[in-house]
Amino acid sequence: MKVLGIESSCDETAAAVVQDQNPYVLSNIVNSQIDIHKIYGGVVPEYAAREHMRCIEEVVGKAICNTDFDVVAATTGPGLIGGLIVGTIVAKTIAIACNKPFFAINHLEAHILTPRFCSDDIEFPYVAILASGGNFLFVDVQGVGMYNILGQTLDDAAGEAFDKVAKMLGEPYPGGKSIERLAQNGDDKRFEFAIPMRKKACCDVSFSGLKTAVRTQILSLGDSITMQDKCDIAASFQSIVVEMIIQQFVKAMRMVQHTVKQIVVVGGVASNSLLRSKLEELAIESGIKFYAPPIKYCTDNAAMIAWCAIEHVKNCFIPSKISEPVRPNWPLSDLYK
Ligand code: KG4
Repeated sequence: MKVLGIESSCDETAAAVVQDQNPYVLSNIVNSQIDIHKIYGGVVPEYAAREHMRCIEEVVGKAICNTDFDVVAATTGPGLIGGLIVGTIVAKTIAIACNKPFFAINHLEAHILTPRFCSDDIEFPYVAILASGGNFLFVDVQGVGMYNILGQTLDDAAGEAFDKVAKMLGEPYPGGKSIERLAQNGDDKRFEFAIPMRKKACCDVSFSGLKTAVRTQILSLGDSITMQDKCDIAASFQSIVVEMIIQQFVKAMRMVQHTVKQIVVVGGVASNSLLRSKLEELAIESGIKFYAPPIKYCTDNAAMIAWCAIEHVKNCFIPSKISEPVRPNWPLSDLYK
């Protein structure tokens, strides 16, 4: 079985063909819009939709030029409505024209199933940390369609917090990469920001207090802020974010009803090397396996959309109706209700 997947929920127009056996990914094309949005410090929805519209034909054309496909899948939510409409209409049109089944895919579900095509060693159940630009979740992944949400963010997504702090420091979007780059030359002990949620019993995360603390620090340094100050702020912020995620994830793992044998991290923030290495340390200490996908499959891509459809077909899920709407708000908790 070969699936054409299309992803256009945010600022990447992507198409891929993935099959149900190794090697899984037959093509994987991504047109990033970073150059368009970086001067604004974040994604401008109107420009994003126009750019998806401009390049989708070329992106899909490249993905299918050397391969056929049996199924068509697209991200139908959550995400920015303009992009979702562009990708979904193209996918539905191809499905109708080629007489193939269509699968409407939830972007968050696709992220948490990603490790399963990147490695042959990822068996259910596992516990996933989904840390992307728009979402943050701890999920007990028991099987396809069986997701128990253990914790989530009370305010911003992790990537959003990185993006906002980078903007405060005058650094370009996407902020995660900028913060990580600055932090390499910074002292993470210079600014002692408090670790959020430390005293709370729940395993949710929160970034708003930390963001305010960073803003206050930047304002107190004023116009005389140096490059070294920026690097130190970036390093201190990054280390507190990672410490909070680990601290809350340990609480989340205690809520899981079965023995946790494997943990994974997915989504754009899973590209962060400090987060990856601290999770690896945690896994070694706890005697469990840890997996993080290659960076090209952490950030938005269409291979994960196609793979999610493969998981649905293998589990006998019926194809979506061609009238299936796009859903800008489509929480994982609403998926199989
Ligand atoms: O998963 P993704 O491509 O988009 C969504 O589905 O939301 O994630 C993009 C987010 C951005 O907020 C970006 O700043 C963050 O991932 N990101 C990082 C890193 N690389 C990308 N955050 C921290 N460290 C990184 N190295």
